[in-house]
Amino acid sequence: MAQFNAHFRNINGDDTYPLTDVIYRSKVDGSLLEVEHDREALASKSPDEWKKLFAERRMSFEPADMSGIWSKREMVLPDMPIEDIVTMREGWSPLFDAAPLAKELGIKSLKVKLCGNSHTGSFKDLGMTVLVSQVNHIIKKKIHEIDAVACASTGDTSAALSAYCAKAGIPSIVFLPAGKTSAAQLIQPISNGSIVLALDTDFDGCMKIVQQVTADNRIYLANSMNSLRVEGQKTISPEICQEMGWKVPDTVIIPGGNLGNVSALAKGFEDCKAMGLIDRIPRIIVAQAENANPFAKAFERGFDKLVPMQAKKTLASAIQIGNPVSYPKAVRAIQKTNGMVVSVTEEELANAAHRGDRIGLYCCPHTGVALGALEKLVAAGKIDKEENVVVISTAHGLKFTEFKLFYHEQRLMDFKDSYKYANPIFKAPADLGAVMDILKKEMAERRR
Ligand SMILES: Cc1ncc(COP(=O)(O)O)c(C=O)c1O
Repeated sequence: MAQFNAHFRNINGDDTYPLTDVIYRSKVDGSLLEVEHDREALASKSPDEWKKLFAERRMSFEPADMSGIWSKREMVLPDMPIEDIVTMREGWSPLFDAAPLAKELGIKSLKVKLCGNSHTGSFKDLGMTVLVSQVNHIIKKKIHEIDAVACASTGDTSAALSAYCAKAGIPSIVFLPAGKTSAAQLIQPISNGSIVLALDTDFDGCMKIVQQVTADNRIYLANSMNSLRVEGQKTISPEICQEMGWKVPDTVIIPGGNLGNVSALAKGFEDCKAMGLIDRIPRIIVAQAENANPFAKAFERGFDKLVPMQAKKTLASAIQIGNPVSYPKAVRAIQKTNGMVVSVTEEELANAAHRGDRIGLYCCPHTGVALGALEKLVAAGKIDKEENVVVISTAHGLKFTEFKLFYHEQRLMDFKDSYKYANPIFKAPADLGAVMDILKKEMAERRR
């Protein structure tokens, strides 16, 4: 059996670096890096052997096997010693069967991958277990001296970083745009003991600062331009395929901001194909909020170049990003999969999120962006009636209570076309007659 191994490689060149180096961009031309695996070594096991191994680990109670990420460790970080892994049983999130919504929309099937059903409530845990494990490994094996790990965040990255660092006993620093995260997001890094800085800027401004702070290699950068994160997040793809009996959906829709996650999704499918686990790669569609859509605009112009924008306020606050760092990787993901990029309005995303809730989901606004894009594309005939679609839900709705409460109270924003799924509370005296009057009226209404 060949020895599995991996290293960082320049996405535009041939320079490579060990995964234990503290490095985020190529030393040759400053391009982004990616983790390159020895695909020949991975292919030395047959697809059936891999499928058997992954199925066995699904039944195991070993901590690494119980993690959706580390149960695929050979394709993530093959050199990671088991004892250095920092895990909170991330991954293996449910693939929610949204059959009633598929029926309403008139498509063959719709599944929603609930990546927010995770320790800190978003998909960021998937990448953070990998990054913090690597930092833990570097510190424990005395490869480099690292004093702390830092990130810029729209809320979810900071929550994941602080939790994993707290578990490993590693200091963490987070930069947040002041007043632009939900209360539930903000309190997470505070509770986990990070040094929390709320900066008077937007996410892109925080990103600039964190890159300057981490230029000193003793503070390690945890943003998704660090390609270790991508290796964890990419396991969303084999997980979807494994849950579907190693079948491949036709289309996957994912909300995009800094564009690390779409790059990860594509890489996950490509790796599965290279290992013979699947025979084709689905079309990938990125959904953005119209108020923060530099990627959608670049797509409309044939991906001539990224024109950074000042992202405007959006209910999908975690993707209020105007200068996405992983743009070049995301362009490749869309081009290779014959994909698309679509924008949705605030009203479309809010209604789509709450439409999803009516079939038992509990959608965050970013999931609303993806579901809104789905509705739009089906209506425009760009998603075919025969397609099996998967939507990536990136965070738990519980992190966005204000979004949901204000929607139902119809005071989220001044929507011209109404709140289609608002469910008002009925105020009534504690009197049976008054209560029965309301119940009769409402039950008749809902039977229609
Ligand atoms: C809930 C949520 N959805 C979507 C995204 C977008 O992911 P990415 O920035 O990797 O495109 C983020 C993070 O930025 C997020 O926190």
